[in-house]
Amino acid sequence: MKITEAIFAEHQVFHNMFDYVERNVSRANTLAEVKLMAALIEAMLEAHSRTEDELFIGPLEHCFEQIGHRETFHQEHEEIESNLKLAQKAKQLKQARRMVLAAVIASRKHFDKEERIVFPLAERVLSVKTLTELGLTWSERRTRL
Ligand SMILES: [Fe+2]
Ligand SMILES: [Fe+2]
Repeated sequence: MKITEAIFAEHQVFHNMFDYVERNVSRANTLAEVKLMAALIEAMLEAHSRTEDELFIGPLEHCFEQIGHRETFHQEHEEIESNLKLAQKAKQLKQARRMVLAAVIASRKHFDKEERIVFPLAERVLSVKTLTELGLTWSERRTRL
């Protein structure tokens, strides 16, 4: 499997989780429930973003510089993470819900951008052999985890 296919498949799993959160966050009656949603998304996204940063964005760094996106992807990962951290520190239910929903919206937007810009770029710039080798590294890392 190519790394682009692996990461795309992970995005689909996140979209299912985001659907669940969007449907249920406004029904959650306690701060603890909302914080748990934020913590779960954070833990899952952490692994996903780290994989992208290390396996994927690294080999494409020089291309991002050309299209002026070098810092954007790191920044977006950090912004989403900080929204989720704020949700977990929130003192009020409303505020926690708002932060979780903001993180979900930002994540969907970020995934969409990766799928429209980064994946096609990777498919153009990297050979099938490299994409497949990176995919193999991805699956080995997942097994080890
Ligand atoms: Fe990402
Ligand atoms: Fe991603």
